[in-house]
Amino acid sequence: MSDPYHIGADADLTPVPEHLHDSPSWVYLLREFEKHYRLGSDGGSRAIRAHRKKVRETLTAVIDSNPAMAQRDPATKPVTAHFPRALDLGKTGVLCGMVRALERVSDRLSWEYGYEKVPRGLEKKYAYCEIAGPQGPVRSERLILGFVLFAPNTTYPQHSHSDIEESYVSIAGAWSENEGAVYAPGSLVLNVPGHEHRITTGRYDPCLLAYAWVGPDDRLSAPGMKFSRSRKARMEHGI
Ligand SMILES: [Fe+2]
Repeated sequence: MSDPYHIGADADLTPVPEHLHDSPSWVYLLREFEKHYRLGSDGGSRAIRAHRKKVRETLTAVIDSNPAMAQRDPATKPVTAHFPRALDLGKTGVLCGMVRALERVSDRLSWEYGYEKVPRGLEKKYAYCEIAGPQGPVRSERLILGFVLFAPNTTYPQHSHSDIEESYVSIAGAWSENEGAVYAPGSLVLNVPGHEHRITTGRYDPCLLAYAWVGPDDRLSAPGMKFSRSRKARMEHGI
């Protein structure tokens, strides 16, 4: 089989691009993000309106600057066995355009954990891939965009992000944050810096979320991801 990752049968097989504009597939994916942050509702929240504006203006500047591509080696994690199902679900949802654009680069995605230590059990249930950020694949110093995939019936432990403003956009599957509501495809959840959050996913289907991080350059290049064990531990780590 030519595709060792068993995903991305419809992926775009153009040569690895040097700059963003060499690869229409990556441009279209970024434009899908920009479109959602421009056209989606803020639900009457001033904070969400400001966040949407920050993300789309930064992203527009990234696209216009035609940044270098820093293609990483493609990598999978055990949870990516659920990726085809998440794509199938996403194609019938409100963000189907983003899902189709994501599928076009699916053979180039580098799935990772982002933590030095992943809690036992979670290594099979979660992974994320970056689309844009200081480490690429689309070089961007002031904005990180990516996707996070959860297996069904997953609890992603409590954590927070210091100095970083984060939004999750629901692409496929159903999930809850801090057990406060159920989010369906199209929903956007804003986590302001320092906000403690814990994610749970539905029992039968995987959950795919897009995310955007904005914050100071130095924090984005070394976000120092850590789970929040206790208040004392969080204070020690400054998170
Ligand atoms: Fe988070």
